[in-house]
Amino acid sequence: TVEDGTRRFDLTLQTGTTDLGRGTPTPTWGVNGDLLGPTVRAQRGERVELRVENRLPETSTLHWHGMHLPAEMDGGPHQLVEPGETWTPSWTIDQPAATLWYHPHLHGSTAEHVYRGVAGMFLIDDPEEAALDLPRDYGVDDLPLIVQDKSFDDDGELDLSTSLFESAGIIGDTVLVNGTPGPYADVTTEAVRLRLLNGANARPFTFTFDDGRTFDLIATDGGLLPAPVRLTSLQLSPGERAEVVVRFSPGERVVLRSENSDTRTTFAGGRDRLDIMQFRAADQLDPAPAVPAKLAEVPRLDPSDAATERSFSLAGSTINGRPMDMSRIDEVVTVGDTEIWTVTNADGGSHNFHVHDVQFQVLDIDGREPPPWLGGWKDTVWLRHGERVRLIMRFTDYTSTEWPYMFHCHTLRHEDSGMMGQFVVV
Ligand code: C2O
Ligand code: CU
Ligand code: CU
Repeated sequence: TVEDGTRRFDLTLQTGTTDLGRGTPTPTWGVNGDLLGPTVRAQRGERVELRVENRLPETSTLHWHGMHLPAEMDGGPHQLVEPGETWTPSWTIDQPAATLWYHPHLHGSTAEHVYRGVAGMFLIDDPEEAALDLPRDYGVDDLPLIVQDKSFDDDGELDLSTSLFESAGIIGDTVLVNGTPGPYADVTTEAVRLRLLNGANARPFTFTFDDGRTFDLIATDGGLLPAPVRLTSLQLSPGERAEVVVRFSPGERVVLRSENSDTRTTFAGGRDRLDIMQFRAADQLDPAPAVPAKLAEVPRLDPSDAATERSFSLAGSTINGRPMDMSRIDEVVTVGDTEIWTVTNADGGSHNFHVHDVQFQVLDIDGREPPPWLGGWKDTVWLRHGERVRLIMRFTDYTSTEWPYMFHCHTLRHEDSGMMGQFVVV
């Protein structure tokens, strides 16, 4: 609903049951329903207000992943919503069109709350994106795909236990897309835009089609790329998003799958190849133009403008040797500054790195120029075995000495076990 120029959303965290094809309904958690939550959508420049009511039996939080907003509204581990209570953050959307998402962020329980099913998409629109000739008919040729893996116990319940080998957390053998097992989509247009979210706790997905077809990557975490990047496969670690445009021919059947070359995941019990969903093209498809050659302006942040450089070493359950402490502020950032953050995967584990409040650009990876698919705005970046990435970001506004933002590994068990830190912008 929109009143006084504010777009209001009611989001109720609740328990439920979902038929996930296990022969018996599976107990799940969701937002306004049994599993996952509605897509929240707003325009750049619009003021939003979200009424988050917690009807779960536990304290939780709801975090707006990828959003530039005041730290008090961020929904991180300090914005607790107790059972029976309602939390009502509000802010003005001020960032480019993008595919963001929301999920709980209760310190120590993020993995469990997300795994039980609390998550949803948060889409931002803006006039630049709207002026481009891209598929944008929601649910028809513009599909949000929340991709998650789950495992089940013999009673058809979500298996929350993890084996000794799974230091990254739960690697499931069943893929759900938007909470649906064995998913497929009917295709009625020559081009379809997929908004992919890796909503898994631990598993990286390497998206590819069974016939090896190419697709155009048009957007990453924080919005459109400068130009489309033609790919045959795309890896997203937990928390990362991408928008791709895929072309179809009349009558064909194509399977989107994940082919993981990541041996640690395979070793941990994950399968090397997972079918994700099938696309079933109609015999007549509505024509669709090719993706525009130019997408959005992505002004490059200039390393010579950086006022501060910081380093973050990810190892064990720590960052820079320290486990997360809710009462310790790790970094103090001066508002208006551009900063360079160097992040190292120091123990070769399954790590990525996410920063709240800002979208960053990747300057280099192990000293090398990043590939074109990392040429846009990002808020989460995958760190392969031992890799070191340099990120550049600008902290434009929203100061607080009281409320910190988080930075952390988005492998959720790592985050929960301490691979997280806090910064304030002052
Ligand atoms: Cu998606 Cu700090 O989280
Ligand atoms: Cu986040
Ligand atoms: Cu990690």
